[in-house]
Amino acid sequence: MNISANLQTSAQIVDGKATAAKVLEEVKAEVQQFKQKGIEPCLAVVLVGDDPASHVYVRNKVEKAQLVNIRSLEFRMDADTAEEVLLEKIDELNADASVHGILVQLPLPKHINETAVLERIHPQKDVDGFHSENVGGLSQGRDVLTPCTPTGCIRLLKDTLGPDLTGLNAVVVGRSNIVGKPMAALLLKESCTVTIVHSKTKNIQDICKQADILVAAVGRPLMIDESYVNPNMVVIDVGINRIQVDGKNRLVGDVHYEAVIDKVKAITPVPGGVGPMTIAYLMKNTLDAARLQTKIF
Ligand code: GUN
Repeated sequence: MNISANLQTSAQIVDGKATAAKVLEEVKAEVQQFKQKGIEPCLAVVLVGDDPASHVYVRNKVEKAQLVNIRSLEFRMDADTAEEVLLEKIDELNADASVHGILVQLPLPKHINETAVLERIHPQKDVDGFHSENVGGLSQGRDVLTPCTPTGCIRLLKDTLGPDLTGLNAVVVGRSNIVGKPMAALLLKESCTVTIVHSKTKNIQDICKQADILVAAVGRPLMIDESYVNPNMVVIDVGINRIQVDGKNRLVGDVHYEAVIDKVKAITPVPGGVGPMTIAYLMKNTLDAARLQTKIF
């Protein structure tokens, strides 16, 4: 008798840190190829105001760029910077042929119109993939610059399930412009059957339970518990939430990791899952942007 068949086995842990390191190695090798052709890929990061989390994110982005030999430029502006001044900075970076990628860190101070700023970035330099031209291109299934976090999630899914995701049932929990909607569009491009669920969805657990792929991107700590999952499911947890447990700060995802770990096929941990992939794909997008602008590869 095969005793192990009766034992509850723990899920495969999808190691985003290791995959991100692999992606960064690929990027580093490709940067060399650009340099041999006389092009130095360059990413400009603009940070307005003094949000502490944004400062940490921007520092990480600049450090990772240095690690893969991408030139990085950092522009810090005061919290009371006028929208027009920020738009002029973007115009300047758009016009500078040595700058291939432009990222304006979000959130912006309240007096600045986020849409106006994101629309000002040249679509070919839009390494966030937030410009309406890129959003529209993705929805039509064209090859455009796509948002870093969902693009990183697709890579994790392919590493876990194999390169062909055709016909799989994918449920995306959350409908944000940064993750939920582009994630759904990318899964559709991979020929998955895609459902988006959100705070107003009826019978949300029943719908999630049918999924082969569940992507949680709602920003609600520990929301996805055992009532949402099945043993064949690959769970991608995009959430990064800081909560207090027994008076201590803890970083948790949107998925209740401990509750589902024995009840799914594979899962990304928090931290060390999706997080590192976002920055790795920002670097990859910078090279894609450089390729679009220089047309040398
Ligand atoms: N702030 C939080 N996530 C992001 C992101 O993906 N891009 C930008 N520009 N800002 C962010």
